[in-house]
Amino acid sequence: MMDTPNKNTAESFVKISRRGREMQSSPIRKLAAIAEARKKQGIHVYHLNIGQPDLPTPTPVLDAVHKFSQQTIEYAPSNGLPEPLKAWKKYFSHFGILFDESELIVTTGGSEAITLAMCAVCDADDEILVFEPTYANYNGFAGIANVKLKAVPTTIENGFHLPSEEAIESFVTNRTRAILYCSPSNPSGTIYSREEIQRLVNVALKHGLFILSDEAYREFAYEKKAISITEFPQVRDRAIVLESCSKKFNVCGARIGVLASHNKEIVSAILKFCQARLSVATIEQLAMVPLLENPEPYTRPLVEEFKRRRDLVCAELKTIPGVVSYIPEGAFYIVVGLPVKDAEHFSQWLIEEFEYERETVLLAPAQGFYVTQGKGINEVRLAFMLKIDDLKRSLKILREALKLYQRTSTQ
Ligand SMILES: Cc1ncc(COP(=O)(O)O)c(C=O)c1O
Repeated sequence: MMDTPNKNTAESFVKISRRGREMQSSPIRKLAAIAEARKKQGIHVYHLNIGQPDLPTPTPVLDAVHKFSQQTIEYAPSNGLPEPLKAWKKYFSHFGILFDESELIVTTGGSEAITLAMCAVCDADDEILVFEPTYANYNGFAGIANVKLKAVPTTIENGFHLPSEEAIESFVTNRTRAILYCSPSNPSGTIYSREEIQRLVNVALKHGLFILSDEAYREFAYEKKAISITEFPQVRDRAIVLESCSKKFNVCGARIGVLASHNKEIVSAILKFCQARLSVATIEQLAMVPLLENPEPYTRPLVEEFKRRRDLVCAELKTIPGVVSYIPEGAFYIVVGLPVKDAEHFSQWLIEEFEYERETVLLAPAQGFYVTQGKGINEVRLAFMLKIDDLKRSLKILREALKLYQRTSTQ
């Protein structure tokens, strides 16, 4: 008789890896399935939970896709096609950042750039410092790279700005290899000052650490400019800039990013990883060229729109009793403290049970943006991906929901 494959006996027992088991599912998408079910019941759901831009992709990108005329879609070179590399160099130069094409590698989104940078600076079980709340997918990238994130806490009371140099340093161990940060930040919208970044530079120099600077939201800086790690020549040998077209150009699905470093050894190690994954999508790389060469006309209207949205959200939040907020200086997110014990329970109740005039709101509980278990329990992240009127309406619904929840919840 034929043996049944994968039967649960000593000889054929199969078990997935520890990293596979321990990988966290996306906190942003957790409640999305419930939202879909609610929509089927005829309830309108406002998505305050996700950073998917609601504005159109610029015409030159769509034109480039439609007009692609080569007979065969070939593999691109592993570091990127020459024209997009030249365009990335030009993009950086608009911000006074000077990289040679040989110091750039085009990646499948900023996500791949971050994962590859982690792989290039860490061995298995090495540590990278991050600041929590942090971009939730850093956890996922670390899981793939078999790296541990060590979270330095920041607090809502000072708008999630960095703690002192000594406090940051106290998290460094003999396994620490790098500091990874994002300014303007997802999820908090915080922009670190020059002096704050200098603290990171000092710690990196003192302890021999790389600096992985996620500059994906560079343009989304409202009152003050976002400062690039490239403005600190002392860390020229250890800084890795990670960039993404997704948000600045409304092209999340094009999956184009870049990794940039003056450290030749880093670039050549990462290029070897890239040779193994062959190349980045040819048509999408080419489609980014007109935007990268001249980004400002595309990013300016977005930035103006997001500033209007940020101002509205902050003004409305201030008027909701018990809500703790601050002014995010950049990006298009805010982490807010809610007057509830458990924001995940509240968010689930909100999407599963609550309605206000046949409408409700989907939030992202902030626990998923913390590495440390038990932190951020009463916080949620809001993304400003709705038109002004819809944002206003969703905050009105949030206010009504909080009122009812506080009256009726046993939590
Ligand atoms: C802070 C941060 N870094 C990197 C990324 C990754 O962007 P992508 O892979 O779409 O280029 C995102 C996307 O939301 C982000 O918020």
